[in-house]
Order: sequence, then structure tokens, then C-alpha cells
Amino acid sequence: MSLHTLRDALVDEIRDLYNAEKQLTKALPKLAKGATSDELRSAFESHLEETEGHVTRLERVFELLDEKPRGKHCAGMAGIIEEGSDMLEEDAEDAVMDACLIAAAQRAEHYEITAYGTVIAWAEALELADVAEILNETLAEEKASDEKLTALALSGINEAATAGESEDEEADDDDMEEENAKSTGSEQPAMSAKGASGSRATRARGGRR
Ligand SMILES: [Fe+2]
Repeated sequence: MSLHTLRDALVDEIRDLYNAEKQLTKALPKLAKGATSDELRSAFESHLEETEGHVTRLERVFELLDEKPRGKHCAGMAGIIEEGSDMLEEDAEDAVMDACLIAAAQRAEHYEITAYGTVIAWAEALELADVAEILNETLAEEKASDEKLTALALSGINEAATAGESEDEEADDDDMEEENAKSTGSEQPAMSAKGASGSRATRARGGRR
């Protein structure tokens, strides 16, 4: 497709988004399955329902633009999803996996937020108010979903994910103490190592419930 006008570019971007949303409808159930937090799983499930609605809205946009609903492979979303799938294969502690799933999902959300921002601005420039209005409804849901993920991360998942840190840190400290003792001939550990482990361990304990 040649892009002679901004309208051509708009149709092209809508096709890209149509494909991206469809890719997400296949990826979100996998993220939901990989989540260990019930709240995170239900966040992915409810965003899956919304995403199906985003596909339908884009079909309405095609109709308003008098174009056939047709997708164009979105390599950006494919890459983000591929990284998320690779991560699901990793052997991780439950809370660490949840924290990583949030990171993967937020990458996808931010990609969409950017793309919807662009097509809304172009639709407005082309005075396609009805198209802009539909796209704005989806943008609002993408932003809300992103904020919900941030809230979930901050309401305990990130903290729970630090739970393994205290043991690791203590093991690291033992190594460090040994090394310090070797290099200085003293049993006294370095101040900075002791200080850092104190604060990390306190946070990790707070995360265990
Ligand atoms: Fe979406």
C-alpha cells in the first residue's frame, strides 16, 4: 500500500493495530495461565475481554473509513509477545514470575497507548471525529489497564518478589566477608555491604505474608 496521504497512513496504522489487538487476544490467556496471583490472573482475564472489544471497535473504524477490516502484521507487538513467552519458559519463583508478567504486559500496553495516541491525533487532524471518539474509548481502557498493573505491582507483588533476596544477600555477604577478611586480614565486614543487606532484608521480610 502506498501512503500518499495522512488518511492512507491512518488506514495503515489501523491495520497494524487490528493485527496487534488480535495477537494480544491469543497472548493474554497465556499470561493469565502463568500468573500465580489471583488478582493478576483476573486482571489479565478482564483485559482479554476488553481486548476483544478493541478488535470490534477497530472493525467499526474500518467501516467508518469505508475500508475492509484487514490486518497487517505488527512486528512490534509480535516481538513484545515473543519476549513474554520466553519469560514464561523461565524457572522463576511465583512472585518473581508475576512481577515479570506485569512487566511484559505493561510493555504491550505502552505500545498500544502510543499507537492509539497517534491514530487519534491523525483522525482529529483529518476531522474524523467519530473515528477519534471510538479510538479514544479504547485508549482510555488501555491506560486504565496499565494503571491497574502498576497498582498490582506496588500493592504487594514487587515486595513479595524480593522475598528470596535476604538469603541471597546473606550468602553474598558471607562471601564478601571472607574476601574482606582475606584482603584486609580482618574479620570486620565492609560497612557498605552490611548497610545494604540490612535494608534489603527488612524489605524482604515485609514482603512475606
Ligand atoms: Fe487493546
